[in-house]
Amino acid sequence: MRVSPLSLSLSALALVGPILAVPHNGQTEGVRSQSSNQGRAAAVKEAFQHAWTGYMKYAFPHDELHPVSNGYGDSRNGWGASAVDALSTAIVMGDKHAVNQILEHISKINYHYTPDEVSLFETTIRYLAGMLSGYDLLKGPASGLVSNPKLVDALLSQSKSLADVLKFAFDTPSGVPYNNINITSHGNDGSTTSGLAVTGTLVMEWTRLSDLTGDDQYAKMSQLAESYLLDPQPASGEPFPGLVGSNINISNGQFADGSVTWNGGDDSFYEYLIKMYVYDPKRFATYKDRWVLAAESTIKHLQSHPKSRPDLTWLASYNDGDLDLSSQHLTCFDGGSFLLGGTVLGRQDFIDFGLKLVNGCEETYNQTLTGIGPDSFGWDPNSVPSSQKAFYERAGYYISSGLYDLRPEVIESFYYAYRVTGKQIYADWVWNAFKAINATCRTDSGFAAVSNVNATGGGSKYDNQESFLYAEVMKYSYLTFAEDAPWQVKTGGNNTFVFNTEAHPLRVSHT
Ligand SMILES: *[C@@H]1O[C@H](CO)[C@@H](O)[C@H](O)[C@H]1NC(C)=O
Ligand SMILES: *[C@@H]1O[C@H](CO)[C@@H](O)[C@H](O)[C@H]1NC(C)=O
Ligand SMILES: *[C@@H]1O[C@H](CO)[C@@H](O)[C@H](O)[C@H]1NC(C)=O
Ligand SMILES: *[C@@H]1O[C@H](CO)[C@@H](O)[C@H](O)[C@H]1NC(C)=O
Ligand SMILES: *[C@@H]1O[C@H](CO)[C@@H](O)[C@H](O)[C@H]1NC(C)=O
Ligand SMILES: *[C@@H]1O[C@H](CO)[C@@H](O)[C@H](O)[C@H]1NC(C)=O
Repeated sequence: MRVSPLSLSLSALALVGPILAVPHNGQTEGVRSQSSNQGRAAAVKEAFQHAWTGYMKYAFPHDELHPVSNGYGDSRNGWGASAVDALSTAIVMGDKHAVNQILEHISKINYHYTPDEVSLFETTIRYLAGMLSGYDLLKGPASGLVSNPKLVDALLSQSKSLADVLKFAFDTPSGVPYNNINITSHGNDGSTTSGLAVTGTLVMEWTRLSDLTGDDQYAKMSQLAESYLLDPQPASGEPFPGLVGSNINISNGQFADGSVTWNGGDDSFYEYLIKMYVYDPKRFATYKDRWVLAAESTIKHLQSHPKSRPDLTWLASYNDGDLDLSSQHLTCFDGGSFLLGGTVLGRQDFIDFGLKLVNGCEETYNQTLTGIGPDSFGWDPNSVPSSQKAFYERAGYYISSGLYDLRPEVIESFYYAYRVTGKQIYADWVWNAFKAINATCRTDSGFAAVSNVNATGGGSKYDNQESFLYAEVMKYSYLTFAEDAPWQVKTGGNNTFVFNTEAHPLRVSHT
């Protein structure tokens, strides 16, 4: 384990699993935290099953539950997004009934038809990864949950079938894909550029599909698109080493700007650079080198501390010489990314910086009335709304959007902090966040997005439950309190699974 000497004794105490069986300062303490972790895991599973039951009753086989009206929506092409997104969480929770319900469903999906435009990015991270993860887990450490093994094979054949439907998107002059496509006409939305995250968050899923099928066309397509991001042209597309612009020209793979952020739209490009190295350190060493450059430049150029709370750290955005002092809930995956890179590469400086980011994101949760953080926030001293002056002085930020859309990133980074340091405080932050979400967003059938995290009861409830509630919020919360398992994030180079950006664990390729 690579942790600072100060945290060693704490971390040994707080680790889940075997270490708890031999507490150094008396039996009761170990037993107490073990049982409280078990109780917390059971409470998260209760919440998952509440939302799963509501979905099955009112929305299945549609994409998502409308948790206020008990209706349904089909925002993800009507293939049952919530069911597919819930699979890997049902697996890690050992929910055999849900697992087999979902396997039945997936074997019957017709990926050749949808009335709507398809997002290559969303379809890859939710459906393709959900199925590949189910396959990796159910062919491997979770095989005991399966009633009909044929349905596990169908996960892979359906993955191939889906990728074959989508792959024409890569058929562009550069190989940088169109994102919004018509799978019937093979048309697209006419965009001339593609976003950084959209282009840079396909490579894990499409490479895994090739590795599992032995057909390398999918890996090749996604890696060609990624190659423009690893070797950015022109130079203005890379204002700081490793940190690149936000939009890529589909006609020639060149960067169309040099605006740098870790916010939504750019985020998971950086996330996947280090995760590809975890996936296969031999094939993806260059990706790791690019992540290290980006991480070092981020510490140097983007870290930012609010004037009113210099103890806090968030990441600013860079645009043409200016720093934009604002960030998002989405950006809060950043702490987890630094922690993963830090532990895998043995870089304590990255771990330390990751913990600072985790701390800043905790503050966005801790300071609101509901205990849930806002969708976006700022700390530019010249832009503080007058109604929020006192709040800014105390909390270090002001709220730009008080929405909570059932996003996972803050809990996700707490999870990495707990797995990497073993410190109980990070598990307690997950518990606080989970309890707040359960108290604020829960409805009779599931969980609803809320309009204002700083209002009593979260303001008003939106009648929507994104499928990532199942895939991410429930999984990262549960895994924090669950026993060690092959799919859990490990310290050092010991990971046997790596999570895609939708929290679907994929088996790393060298094991
Ligand atoms: C996709 O193309 C088909 C065939 O041209 C057309 O009928 C359909 O309306 C298109 N779908 C969308 C969402 O534009
Ligand atoms: C993309 O590249 C083409 C070909 O060089 C150029 O004509 C076009 O203006 C570029 N588009 C953008 C948005 O940069
Ligand atoms: C905020 O943090 C304090 C100190 O760690 C803790 O006592 C409190 O419960 C937290 N509040 C919320 C809403 O998480
Ligand atoms: C979640 O909410 C339900 C319904 O109010 C409640 O029964 C349950 O105890 C809550 N769980 C936690 C961990 O607070
Ligand atoms: C959040 O709510 C508290 C309590 O009502 C209030 O004092 C504070 O100003 C609010 N903060 C923002 C950013 O609106
Ligand atoms: C990997 O796991 C082994 C066995 O559990 C352990 O001895 C080793 O210290 C771990 N390596 C790292 C880098 O954490």
